[in-house]
Amino acid sequence: VRSTTVLGRRAVVGAVPVAVAALLATAGPAAAGTTGASGAADPYFPLAGNGGYHVSHYGLTLDYRPSNRHLDGRAVLTARATEHLTRFDLDFKGLKITGLTVDGHKAAFRRSGQELVVTPRHALRKGQRFCVTVTYGGTPAPVTDPDGSADGWIPTDDGAFVAGEPQGAMTWFPANNHPKDKSAYDFTLTVPEGHAAIANGVYLGRRTAHGKTTYRWHQAEPMAAYLATATVGKFKVQQYTTRDGVQVVNAVDPREAAAAAPVLKKLPSVLEWESKVFGPYPFRAAGSIVDHAPDVGYALETQTRPLYDSAPDLATLVHESAHQWFGDSVSLTSWKDIWLNEGFATYAEWLYSEQHGGDSAQKTFDALYARPAGDDLWAYPPADPGSGANIFGTPVYARGAMALHELRTAVGDRTFLRILRAWATEHRDGHGTTAQFERLAQRESGKKLDGLFRTWLYGTGKPARSDRS
Ligand code: ARG
Ligand code: ZN
Repeated sequence: VRSTTVLGRRAVVGAVPVAVAALLATAGPAAAGTTGASGAADPYFPLAGNGGYHVSHYGLTLDYRPSNRHLDGRAVLTARATEHLTRFDLDFKGLKITGLTVDGHKAAFRRSGQELVVTPRHALRKGQRFCVTVTYGGTPAPVTDPDGSADGWIPTDDGAFVAGEPQGAMTWFPANNHPKDKSAYDFTLTVPEGHAAIANGVYLGRRTAHGKTTYRWHQAEPMAAYLATATVGKFKVQQYTTRDGVQVVNAVDPREAAAAAPVLKKLPSVLEWESKVFGPYPFRAAGSIVDHAPDVGYALETQTRPLYDSAPDLATLVHESAHQWFGDSVSLTSWKDIWLNEGFATYAEWLYSEQHGGDSAQKTFDALYARPAGDDLWAYPPADPGSGANIFGTPVYARGAMALHELRTAVGDRTFLRILRAWATEHRDGHGTTAQFERLAQRESGKKLDGLFRTWLYGTGKPARSDRS
């Protein structure tokens, strides 16, 4: 969720250095069909992700010094080849690589933009498990997205705000950087004593020695790379377990503590309400990171532990929490389906309001529908926003939620809630597409809904009243 306008956002820190080719050896032209693709075939982000393998686990060991913004890292990727590979790509932008091995053997690599092209000493057989270790260091810088916003490793006055949607994971670790590929993660994060380093999943503990503190985190359920975080700051950290046995860790910048406290107190009840509406909470850990990062301008649903650039309001907390089901547990296979994340999380805000003494969803819908035909809201269809520059635009959030409200009106409340729950349950820890959602809605309702979806998800311009159900 954007807290403010894109204008006024601080210029992106530094320019990402043009990839200096670290050509250790020449791979030579590989035989046809043995080279992993440089992208996951995403129409909006063609170089995001890679072909030819699946990463099951990332082990990330990082050491960050906020005073000089230096990051040292080691990434150990456990992967499996899905085709015969003489070479494959990772996404990694900026930081200098000091070592790279595949299954313990030094491997040749070369860099070109965000592509890190690895040629292992021995070709990988289809189905073979392999392990890539990359050591690296330098000053990470965020990427600038097509809409002008920044994401990735974003330095703050006391640490770093680390948010990777859609592209920024590759600014701090080498990754198969597309939500199609989901993995488990372990984090070992070292920061100067007095700082905290907060990642995803279960908190395993910390240890201080020689003026440095190391935090360990474990993300067991599969996670898309863009949802990983390793946010650093002088946070106050609070931990407790909910009635449902979920481990909650809240990390709060002291400058935001007074404003955040009343909202964070509601997190357990928000998660309980959402579990009733959407089905069981999908992860074993939860919480929040409330940073003080005034130039960022958005929050992100980092898995298990949403990240806020300042103390959130309740609607934003409800939104990022709803993403744990819609976006995090049920992931995109293509960025153009982004309304499956943002439309759903926005509709969760409307439903929450309606059931907690605020405006009804109908009232919110009506106020939006009253906007004139020339309004930004009608600028493009939510299920086909056209380019990466539009994925966080008003049509995706608001018209996406309006599409769900039209669905609810057409099928009735009980069926609508059954559809939401079936979606979250059947695709849990997996993926979903817009077409799959449409089919599921028709199946659960027994109604023909293609006209409704055509109008609200794919139509351009403001739908006419006669198109309304
Ligand atoms: N998914 C986030 C939210 O709506 C928004 C992320 C925006 N990212 C960006 N690079 N502008 O909760
Ligand atoms: Zn969102």
